[in-house]
Amino acid sequence: MPKVLLATEKPFAQVAKDGIGKIFRKAGYELILLEKYTDHADLVKAVSSVDAMIVRSDKVDRQVIVAGKNLKIVVRAGAGYDNIDLEAASEKGIVVMNTPGQNSNAVAELAIGMMIYLDRNYFNGTSGTELRGKTLGIHGYGNVGKIVGHIAGCFGMEVYAHDPYIDKVLIENDGIKYAGDVKDLYSRCQYVSVNLPANDETKESVNYDLFSAMPEGATLVNTARKEIICEKSLLKIFSERPDFRYISDIAPDCKEQIAGNYEGRYFFTPKKMGAQTAEANINAGLAAAKQIVNFITRGDVTFQVNK
Ligand code: 3PG
Repeated sequence: MPKVLLATEKPFAQVAKDGIGKIFRKAGYELILLEKYTDHADLVKAVSSVDAMIVRSDKVDRQVIVAGKNLKIVVRAGAGYDNIDLEAASEKGIVVMNTPGQNSNAVAELAIGMMIYLDRNYFNGTSGTELRGKTLGIHGYGNVGKIVGHIAGCFGMEVYAHDPYIDKVLIENDGIKYAGDVKDLYSRCQYVSVNLPANDETKESVNYDLFSAMPEGATLVNTARKEIICEKSLLKIFSERPDFRYISDIAPDCKEQIAGNYEGRYFFTPKKMGAQTAEANINAGLAAAKQIVNFITRGDVTFQVNK
């Protein structure tokens, strides 16, 4: 009987766990839960006897990979797999997959929700501003960026997008204006939503050069990884431009400096919560469970990211 570990430091909603359990019961697999753990050693221990593992942002480093003596597949129930040591997995012939698109709507709704929250002064009863008629840039037109653009359009925002890997025609087909150059995107848009994956190319790539090009009322919205933003640049622009605001799903490392000096110009979630909805948990969790069954029963490697 194959054993599957569901290791989530940040647990899924119960309804998603029930659905995952049902899939594995039907397949005749044993499901082991490791949730809310605080010690990495617990994950290292739990992985030692399983054939497959589902994780979220849990750190699957070389130590975990090496400890997984029977491990054949790791599925990241979500989009970003920067938390998994792909090199170590590949060396051991372990397949790593993600579940692209499954939690994108939740992340996109949070991006828009946080924009409204800051624009309405944290709902404190004072007079705020509206999104309608403002310009929004989508930096990274993947699954999340596409939905952010769609919702923003419904709010009456003028939406631009830039993505070096997506054709102009595909962006324009969605009724979104194409910005061929990234600096052009930032210079046109009052709001920019960052929806890039974290990798060597993107880390610290959103920097002073881009922030400083933004027009009056510049608001940067980051629901991707904090590492994509150059924090040195962030502190510089905060100190130079009183109109600059930063919204982020999870606080930057320089949180204290921003919180202590720029009240009313930022909002940070206390924990990464873009994908924390029942729907996203169900979509990503069930997709991950099905991908494991399909891989073990018939070698299906769709969504493998370490080819
Ligand atoms: C993702 O990469 O899918 C999102 O950042 C969500 O991550 P989470 O599953 O850890 O909430």
